[in-house]
Amino acid sequence: MGRRKSAGPREKATARVSKLTELLERYNYRYHALDDPEVPDAEYDRLMQELRALESDFPELKDPHSPTMRVGAAPVAAFGTVKHQMPMLSLDNAFSEQEVRDFDRRIRERLGQSGAVRYVAEPKLDGLAVSALYENGTFVRGATRGDGETGEEITQNLRTINALPLKLRESNAPRLLEVRGEVFMPLAGFKRFNDAAAERGEKTFVNPRNAAAGSLRQLDPRLTAARPLDMFVYGTGVIEGGELASSHSGTLKRLQRFGFKICPQSKVVESIEGCLEYYEAMGLARPNLPYQIDGVVYKVDAANLQRKLGFISRAPRWAVAHKFPAEEALSVVLAVEFQVGRTGALTPVAKLEPTFVGGVTVSSATLHNMDELTRKDVRVGDAVVIRRAGDVIPEVARVLPERRVAGAKLAQLPSTCPICGSPVLRDADQAVARCSGGRHCAAQRKGEIQHFASRRAMDIQGLGEKLVHQLVDHDWVATPADLFSLQADRLATLERMGQKSAHKVHLAIQAAKQTTLPRFLYALGIRDVGEATAAALAQHFPDLRLLRRAGEEEIQRVPDVGPVVAKHVAAYFRDAENAAVIDRLLAAGIRWPAAPAKAAKAGALYDKTFVLTGTLQSHSREEATQAIVRAGGKVSGSVSKKTDYVVAGAEAGSKLKKAEKLGVRILEEAAFLEILKT
Ligand code: IVH
Repeated sequence: MGRRKSAGPREKATARVSKLTELLERYNYRYHALDDPEVPDAEYDRLMQELRALESDFPELKDPHSPTMRVGAAPVAAFGTVKHQMPMLSLDNAFSEQEVRDFDRRIRERLGQSGAVRYVAEPKLDGLAVSALYENGTFVRGATRGDGETGEEITQNLRTINALPLKLRESNAPRLLEVRGEVFMPLAGFKRFNDAAAERGEKTFVNPRNAAAGSLRQLDPRLTAARPLDMFVYGTGVIEGGELASSHSGTLKRLQRFGFKICPQSKVVESIEGCLEYYEAMGLARPNLPYQIDGVVYKVDAANLQRKLGFISRAPRWAVAHKFPAEEALSVVLAVEFQVGRTGALTPVAKLEPTFVGGVTVSSATLHNMDELTRKDVRVGDAVVIRRAGDVIPEVARVLPERRVAGAKLAQLPSTCPICGSPVLRDADQAVARCSGGRHCAAQRKGEIQHFASRRAMDIQGLGEKLVHQLVDHDWVATPADLFSLQADRLATLERMGQKSAHKVHLAIQAAKQTTLPRFLYALGIRDVGEATAAALAQHFPDLRLLRRAGEEEIQRVPDVGPVVAKHVAAYFRDAENAAVIDRLLAAGIRWPAAPAKAAKAGALYDKTFVLTGTLQSHSREEATQAIVRAGGKVSGSVSKKTDYVVAGAEAGSKLKKAEKLGVRILEEAAFLEILKT
């Protein structure tokens, strides 16, 4: 076997440094100059870190023009340039609680202080840092951060932002005052803007930050003016002929009085513990904020301490950015598989190299449907950007075509169902392809039962995806009606199921028999019948027998029900197999209060969601559930922001804690009985 001499570590490093430099330059240009980033920030940071490490191992390889040597991008020539009198710094990042605690420890060591340090915690806004200069109270010059030393002159563009005062509102300001802050595009405006651009067939922005940057750097300020930009200020630069305050929090208050907008979520905390609590709270608040943030920032509050701490290279020692886990990351497509859903729809799913994104490890991501797969051109072996926002299912955002391996193939829609082998049908004008097997297909059986049991349908607690799969795989349950003849003893023989949990599931199934007509109709899983349509159907047909006999025309008289939905509803009830399932469900004892929609709407509990915890004296869990449902309310197993009331009996536990944390109304037993009477 011939052996080739492998390259030495230094040669390897040289090659890697040049590759990294090339990639970083390219990504940097796309990000800063074109406002159209190619890779997620996390990937950029990773490459930058790799380059920094190599340069520190092999200092002779470090080029004075290396990407590690600059902050941000060089200003484009089209704008005039501004030399910042005081450099516009960046922030060090912390990605874990430990790194935050280390930051605090270093500060206390440096200050020789054993007690807690007071901080101001602020959202880390995802926009563009700018400087605004005021002379004798008048706005005279605006600039971008640029590379921190030199920025672009954008005075006319900044002027168009209403949040920026053109004259300070108080006359006691320093003669020269440079204010710094973040220009951003609020999410609502971003969506409106992108929708309109898409409608006109124009290019849309990848995210609000790039939209803000792109808008601010329009050469024609009239274009900037048409964009929904906003601005919060979070600090100062040069100050001459006056003072602001002896603390950061004091400075913010003062700036607010001058007419600037301060982020309303900024908060003074007394110690690093307060910072960590703030991080947690902002993480929870994040999905509901009107603007995008990618972390929070902690700043030492006292100005004299800030001065003592000073700066290191390009970042202050007295501040740190605590970043949220990346919501976009790079991965590789290992395979494309097809999942079959409750209605038989085939969803292409990318199986991925396990990747940590948005705080969890993800190993598959949806590709939605065939049109989407073709449009995004996702192929096996491709490097892809995956995105995960909040609780939503991870998806493939885009492919990196420059990393494609030769011969990578596009996945083809299978002609038969991968689960049951029935033919797959696709209407010419529809993106969705479906397995034609119906209940013959195990995947559709599982989907139907899971939907039937789900929280907003029959709400059978403890009957989750895993259990449903076991039940169907054992052939114990083929339709929702089979659930009601399951015995607890039999359930207990399942893997990972004790006597106690088997008993609980059995009870939950029995308790679910008492329901409402809208819930029942929704639970049937009729195509295109969501909760709203189910409620409308129940209103129009308070007696199920009438709906079962109704023709398409009559169903179309229901408000908001069009011909397609009416067709699906009528076809569902006409089907003999479905009719048999409904008969068996009713025979099993499923009941709802007569004409609930009208009667309950008047009641105080209409559409209210309750969670029960602890033991009540007056009612068993089942009785309490029935009482609530009878009054038009719903009972759920877990507390969320959508919960209206938590009923807390004796020895209430973690659900009560969660309710307190989320600020959900808590009812003690007496108050609960009172509310039931209404
Ligand atoms: S303070 C010396 N506060 O983050 C402190 N920056 O990584 C420098 N940013 O260029 C900035 N929100 O664009 C500060 N509340 C905040 C911020 C914030 C977002 C951005 C800003 C800055 C970058 C530094």
